[in-house]
Amino acid sequence: MQENLLDYLACPNCGCEKIELQISKKEGQEISFGTLICCDCFSRFPIIGGIPSMLPRIYESEEKSETNLTLESSIYDIRKSEMLFRDTHATGYDNISRAQAQLEIDYVMDELNLSQGKKYTLLDLGCGTGRVLLSLIPYAQNLIGIDFSLESLRLLKSKLRKVENSGSVHLIHVDAAQPALKNKLFDAIVSVQLVQSFPDEETRLALLKQIHRVARPQASFVLSTFYYSLLKQLRARYIKNPEDDIYEREGLHLGHLYYHNYSSKELNDLFIKSGFKTLRKRGVNTPLTRRYGVVGAKIEKLLKWSGILTPFSHWITVSAFVETEDEM
Ligand SMILES: C[S@@+](CC[C@H](N)C(=O)[O-])C[C@H]1O[C@@H](n2cnc3c(N)ncnc32)[C@H](O)[C@@H]1O
Repeated sequence: MQENLLDYLACPNCGCEKIELQISKKEGQEISFGTLICCDCFSRFPIIGGIPSMLPRIYESEEKSETNLTLESSIYDIRKSEMLFRDTHATGYDNISRAQAQLEIDYVMDELNLSQGKKYTLLDLGCGTGRVLLSLIPYAQNLIGIDFSLESLRLLKSKLRKVENSGSVHLIHVDAAQPALKNKLFDAIVSVQLVQSFPDEETRLALLKQIHRVARPQASFVLSTFYYSLLKQLRARYIKNPEDDIYEREGLHLGHLYYHNYSSKELNDLFIKSGFKTLRKRGVNTPLTRRYGVVGAKIEKLLKWSGILTPFSHWITVSAFVETEDEM
C-alpha cells in the first residue's frame, strides 16, 4: 500500500478516522509489510504483501463455519463460504466467457459515462481479480478496490504490476458491508456481481447505505447483479435442469455461493431506501450472448438502449446518483 491510502481509511470496527501506520518493510513508495492501528479502539490490521487486511472483528472468531452451506445458514457462514471459495478459485475466475464478461464491462462503463481526460476518485466494491477495475484505471486519480478474498486481490496486484499508471490503484482486503472508508470520498462507484451474495433485505440495505455514505454529493453509482428476469422465472418453472443452479429466486451456486436474483421492484426499493436516485435499469447477457458469443453480444449491445431484451437477461445494471449537498 502507499502512505496516502491513510487519507481514505477508517476503522471497520469503531469508525475512527485516525489510523496509525507502523512500517516493517518498504520498497520505494510501496509499504509491503506493516501494521495499521486504530487510534480509538486499538484494533490492529496487518499489511500483507502490500495489501492492508482490514476485516472486521467478527472474522477473528475461531468459530468454524459450517461445511454444508444451506439457505438457512448464518450470514457469517454464507460470507465465510464465499470467501473460501473465492480464495480457492481466484485463478479460475478469469476464465468466464469473454463475450459475457466484456459485455458487462462495456455496459458498466457506458452507464458510468466518465469523461476522457478527466481524473476521478473511484471505488470498486467486490473488485475480485480486477475484471472491471482494470478498465477504470485511465480515469482514476485514485482508485480503491475492495474485496474479502485475499487471493483474488493478490492476483489482481500481480496484474497491476504490468499495467501503466497503476500507481493510482489501492487494494483493501475488507468486508464490503463494513468497508473501512471515510465518508463522502468518491466521485463514482461500481459494484459488479457482489450484491447477489447478500442474503436478506437488512444486509442489502446496510450495504447500499454504506455505499451512499462513502459517495460524494452528485456521485454516480453503477451496480450490476443477478436479475430475476421473465426468462429465468420460466426456466425455473419449466426446465428443471439440476446443472442450472442459478435460475431460482435464491439458491446456492456451485454449492458454496449464496445467490439472490433481484426483481426490478426490489432494486428500486433498495436504491430509494438507501438514498440514491435511480436513473436507469438495463438487462445484460441474454441468450444471444450466451449462445452466439461475440456476435450475439454485438446485437445485444445494439438493442441495449431500447430495453426490449431486459426480460430475457441474466443480469441487470442499475445506474443511480447521489443528490447535491442541498438535497441531502
Ligand atoms: C462474482 S465476483 C465479481 C468480481 C468482480 N466484481 C467482477 O465483476 O469480476 C464477486 C466478488 O465479490 C467478493 N465478495 C463477495 N462478498 C463480499 C463481501 N461481503 N465483502 C467483500 N467482497 C465480497 C468476492 O470475494 C468476489 O471476488
